[in-house]
Amino acid sequence: MRIAFFLLILSIIVGLAYGYSCPKPCYGNMCCSTSPDHKYYLTDFCGSTSACGPKPSCSGKLYFTADSQRFGCGKHLNLCRGKKCVKAKVYDAGPAEWVEKDAGKMIIDASPTICHELTGGSSCGWSDKFEITATVTSLTDSRPLGPFNVTEEEMDQLFIDHEIAMAQCEAEKTCNGFDLE
Ligand SMILES: *[C@@H]1O[C@H](CO)[C@@H](O)[C@H](O)[C@H]1NC(C)=O
Repeated sequence: MRIAFFLLILSIIVGLAYGYSCPKPCYGNMCCSTSPDHKYYLTDFCGSTSACGPKPSCSGKLYFTADSQRFGCGKHLNLCRGKKCVKAKVYDAGPAEWVEKDAGKMIIDASPTICHELTGGSSCGWSDKFEITATVTSLTDSRPLGPFNVTEEEMDQLFIDHEIAMAQCEAEKTCNGFDLE
């Protein structure tokens, strides 16, 4: 207990020094915390194994992300950069916490299609520092996966929907590493 507390304090100090902190490290090498200001760097991945079932494919227009350790497998996320957003589904776990420490920010690892939709480019690495917001969709959200645009008001609503959805999944212990407690 004492050691856990000491490590928590240490990780906060180190986090503050480097602009990155993870209050809830989990699964040995990942971070289960969500970003308090909803901001992340966007990176892309595909083709690896999957922690959630379906294997993230490298071809086709697919809208998936990693980060299941934060949000839970199968959850839907709205990823936005400016007024441009993409609705995506969580397919896998990752990235490793050390990557986020190196980047100095939490990371949403997403499909190449999402990288292209939000940045116009063909690849997203953490050193590109493409900043996005990520929120969990409302439980009643019926928007299909894929791109959409938002007004400022709609953006505010996405943050509200996120708080409600996170409160629910924390109560159900299906996200954020709560199943580890
Ligand atoms: C979003 O807005 C851009 C620029 O106005 C437009 O080109 C694009 O088609 C819109 N996307 C969607 C999905 O409506």
